[in-house]
Amino acid sequence: MSRHGGTRVGSGRSKLSPEIKKKSYKVYMNIETSQQIELFGVGESFSSKVIDLVQSELKNRSHIKEMRFIDLFAGIGGFRIALEEFGHKCVFSSEMDKYCQKVYEDNFKDTPSGDITQISENNIPDFDILTAGFPCQPFSYAGRQEGFNDKTRGTLFFDVLRIIKAKRPKMFLLENVKGLKSHNNGETMDIILSSLKELGYDVHWKILDSHKFGVPQKRERWYCVGFDKKVDFKFPIQTNPNTTLKDIVDVEAKHPDLELSKFEKSRIQHHFSSSEIRVPHDNSMYAPNTKKGKHGVFSFLKPDKTLRFHIGDAAKTQIQEAYYCSLDSVAPAIIAAREPKLWDISRRLSVDECRKLQGFPDKFIFNVSNLQAKKQLGNSVAVPVIREIVRNMLYYYK
Ligand SMILES: C[S@@+](CC[C@H](N)C(=O)[O-])C[C@H]1O[C@@H](n2cnc3c(N)ncnc32)[C@H](O)[C@@H]1O
Repeated sequence: MSRHGGTRVGSGRSKLSPEIKKKSYKVYMNIETSQQIELFGVGESFSSKVIDLVQSELKNRSHIKEMRFIDLFAGIGGFRIALEEFGHKCVFSSEMDKYCQKVYEDNFKDTPSGDITQISENNIPDFDILTAGFPCQPFSYAGRQEGFNDKTRGTLFFDVLRIIKAKRPKMFLLENVKGLKSHNNGETMDIILSSLKELGYDVHWKILDSHKFGVPQKRERWYCVGFDKKVDFKFPIQTNPNTTLKDIVDVEAKHPDLELSKFEKSRIQHHFSSSEIRVPHDNSMYAPNTKKGKHGVFSFLKPDKTLRFHIGDAAKTQIQEAYYCSLDSVAPAIIAAREPKLWDISRRLSVDECRKLQGFPDKFIFNVSNLQAKKQLGNSVAVPVIREIVRNMLYYYK
């Protein structure tokens, strides 16, 4: 007996299983590329030709899935996050700071080995990729220097080199401060690059800014990649930044730890009591004890909406004494000794907001004091930049 209403068998849209379900994408390409797809792809439609070509390329690169890596000067594992996302396996890590070790262990369930200078390369398992954000130290330039052994001995970079030399990884990724480029009139970087080349590696370097990789932090860093063969490597393209602190700051958040000091609030107030670009500061509350400080303290608002306080004369801004951002500006590079502060809502950034500035995942945990967590994040790498460099390393290493 048939009934009115209800659902008829076979009527309506049936639910597709995830394997059958297809997503559509809009892709822009030039005529030459589309002609090549028509020529080389297999299938009846343009779409099936694209899928065929993409799948065969992915198959070609599938060997890359099984790479093993080591994480030197691991900190809290910024490199590790990016490499694990691509399916690679960490087989060794080294970090000597006990608070970093704790955070590393809590997040990766793996305790890093300690001081790398005390670890023989023979005790490190074989691996394909090495990562290291090594501390920048001056090299000794004196005397007759033949090769990297002579020039770099006694520095932590020497430990990176001896491990590369003994283990011959397919590739490495190094990170350092932007200042490495000009350190000792460029000689430090020259020694680093020539030592790596001396080991037979094809080396590429570039300064990249994390703000151009989607986080509201201007963090320019030196990145260096190397391959055990000639590789036509290209660093990722930097896009036009459009993120600001508004995107990551919780304006509702209130906590005594986030409050600025009375003194800081009063000098922010002082700045806005005048329409002048540079405002002479009230030195009675602040006694600069540097030589240049005798010229006074000045505050001024930069076109990018950051607020600066300088010690020095009004014309020359010799010493940067404090730096405040606003919700519609970006943070300066967070470093161990400087945490970002917002002048417009008169507060510091929280650990969670600093975590976002470095692109660490939401699930990342810090079971250490806020002070330690901010220091660790300040020493760390911006994960979105590492992710894109690694993507290109894997892409160009055929
Ligand atoms: C610039 S930080 C690197 C941070 C890391 N890239 C990250 O994502 O968190 C350098 C790290 O090297 C560690 N370090 C310095 N000397 C070391 C040594 N001899 N052995 C092991 N780790 C060391 C420091 O404790 C510091 O955490």
